[in-house]
Amino acid sequence: MPTETPRSPAPDWWQSAVIYEVYPRSFADGDGDGVGDLAGLIARLPYIASLGVEGIWMTPFQPSPQVDQGYDVTDYCGVDPLFGTMEQFDSLLSKAHSLGLRVLLDVVPNHCSSEHPLFQAALAAGPGSPERDMFHFVEGSGAGVPPNNWQSVFGGRAWSRANPDSETDKDWYLHLFSAGQPDWNWRNPAVGDYFDGVLRFWFDKGVDGLRIDVAHALFKADGLPDSPSTGGVVDGLRSNPQVSDQEDVHEVYRRWRTLAEKYEPHRLLVGEVNLEPARAARYTRADEMQQAFAFAFVKLAWDPESWAAVGNELEAARQLHGAAPTWALENHDIVRSVTRFGGGELGSVRARAAVVALLGLPGAAYLYQGQELGLPEVDVPVESRVDPMWARGGVCRDGARVPLPWTEDVVANHGFSLGAPAAEPWLPVPAGWGTNAVKRQEQDPESALNLTKAALELRRQLWKNEVFAPDDGGKWRVEAGNLLICERNEHFLVAVAMGAEPVKLPAGTVLLSAEPLAEDGWLQPNNAVWVLRG
Ligand code: NOJ
Repeated sequence: MPTETPRSPAPDWWQSAVIYEVYPRSFADGDGDGVGDLAGLIARLPYIASLGVEGIWMTPFQPSPQVDQGYDVTDYCGVDPLFGTMEQFDSLLSKAHSLGLRVLLDVVPNHCSSEHPLFQAALAAGPGSPERDMFHFVEGSGAGVPPNNWQSVFGGRAWSRANPDSETDKDWYLHLFSAGQPDWNWRNPAVGDYFDGVLRFWFDKGVDGLRIDVAHALFKADGLPDSPSTGGVVDGLRSNPQVSDQEDVHEVYRRWRTLAEKYEPHRLLVGEVNLEPARAARYTRADEMQQAFAFAFVKLAWDPESWAAVGNELEAARQLHGAAPTWALENHDIVRSVTRFGGGELGSVRARAAVVALLGLPGAAYLYQGQELGLPEVDVPVESRVDPMWARGGVCRDGARVPLPWTEDVVANHGFSLGAPAAEPWLPVPAGWGTNAVKRQEQDPESALNLTKAALELRRQLWKNEVFAPDDGGKWRVEAGNLLICERNEHFLVAVAMGAEPVKLPAGTVLLSAEPLAEDGWLQPNNAVWVLRG
C-alpha cells in the first residue's frame, strides 16, 4: 500500500496524463455547415473536461486543400477558414487552460501540401534550383520511370512528375503519401530552420505540446536506394533502413526537445513512430521526445498471448531507454476497437474491458473521441468515402471519422451541429447512430461513457495516493484460461479474461471492473479488473 514517503520523484504532468484526441472535423460543428470546427470544439470543451482527462490533442486545422483532411498543410501557422479563425484558436486555448486541459497540436514535418508556397516556388524554379532542394526532386531513371521503386503508404508509386507536360523538366518529386503531399528534404538545413519557426510560433502562444506526424520518416536513406519492400515504404511496424528510421532523424528530436525545454512548463513532444518497440523506444531517449505511441499495442487483436508478448517487449524497451510506453487503442487512422474486437455486443463488451485495461497500464494513455462512447466503425457507403488512402487503393479510414452523436434525436445531425437547420454532415451517419449519443449515455450508469469516467477518476486517485508511480513497469503474463495479467507494481495489477471460460479472480481487492462482478470470485469472459494486492 502507499507509504508516507514518495516511492519516486513527482511525475511530470505528461507521465500520468490521459489525453483525448479530437478530430475537429467530426467533433462538433459550430456554424452548421456539416463540418466540425473550432467554435464547436470551444462549446464542447466542458464535456471533455468532465471526462477527467488532462488534455486534448487536436489533429490539423491549419490551412489546407484538405486532400488528406488537413495532413496536407499550406500554412503551418494559420487556421483554415473551414475551421475558424486564429482569434477562435486563441479563445480555445485559454478556455481549455481555464478548464485545466492542456492542448497539443499536430505538426506534419514529413510533407506539406503541393499547394504550399514553397513547393509552388520549387515547381516554378525548375530542375537544379535551390527551391527544388527543399523537397526531393529527382530526375527519372528513364522515360516514364520514376527514380526508384518506392511505393506510397496510400498505394501506388511514391513519385509524381513535377511537370508532366514539359520535355526539358525530367524531375519527379517524392511523396510517401498522396501526390498532394510532397516530402520535405530534411537534408537541407533550411527545412529544419523553417520548422523551428513553426514550433516557436505555437509554443509562444502557449500550446502545451505537439504530436509529430510520421515522425520516423523525415530523413530518407542517403541516395534514395530501391526498397526491398513492395508495400508502403513507411507502413507497418518494420523498420525500413532503405527508406525511413534513419539515424539523422534523432538529431531533429534532440533539437526540438531542447527548444521544448526552453519553455515553462516544458512542452511535450509525442511521436507517431510506427515501428516495432525496440526501434520506437529510441525516439524517447532522455534527450528526444517524451512520448511515442506504442503502435505494436494499438494494432493487437483480442489475443492474450500477443498482448503479453508486446507488453513485455515494450517493458524491455522501457528498461533500456527509460520512457514508459504511451498507450492507445484507437485513433483516426485505425478501425474502432469495438469492431476490431469482434463487432456487435461481443465487440462492445471487449472494448469496455480493453479501455479499463488501457487506463490501468503503466504510462500515459490516449483516448480517441468516441472511444468513450464505445462507437463502432461505420461502413461508410462507397459513394460517400473521401479518404485519399481509399482512393489510391488502400484501406478506407473514414469509418472511424464519422461525426460524434451528441443527442439521441436526429435534429441537427444528432446534436453534432450546434443549432438547426444544419447542412448534412461531411460523412453520413448510419441509422441508429443516436443510440450511442452522449446525452443518452450520461443518463445510463452502466454506459461506456460512465465506465470511462469512473476509470479516469480512479486513475487520478491512484496517482494521487502513489499507488501509481512514474517508474512502474509492466510484467505481463497469461494464466490458465487465457487470463491476461499485467502486474504494474507490487501493489497493483490489471487482469483481462480473454478466453471463452470464466477464470478465478486474482487475489486482492477489486477496485474496478468493466462489467459487474458476481460474488463467486470468478471473472467472466471479456471482463477486466483492476486489483489492489495485499
Ligand atoms: C498519419 C496521420 O495520422 C494520417 O491521418 C495521415 O494520413 C498520415 N500520417 C499522413 O500525414
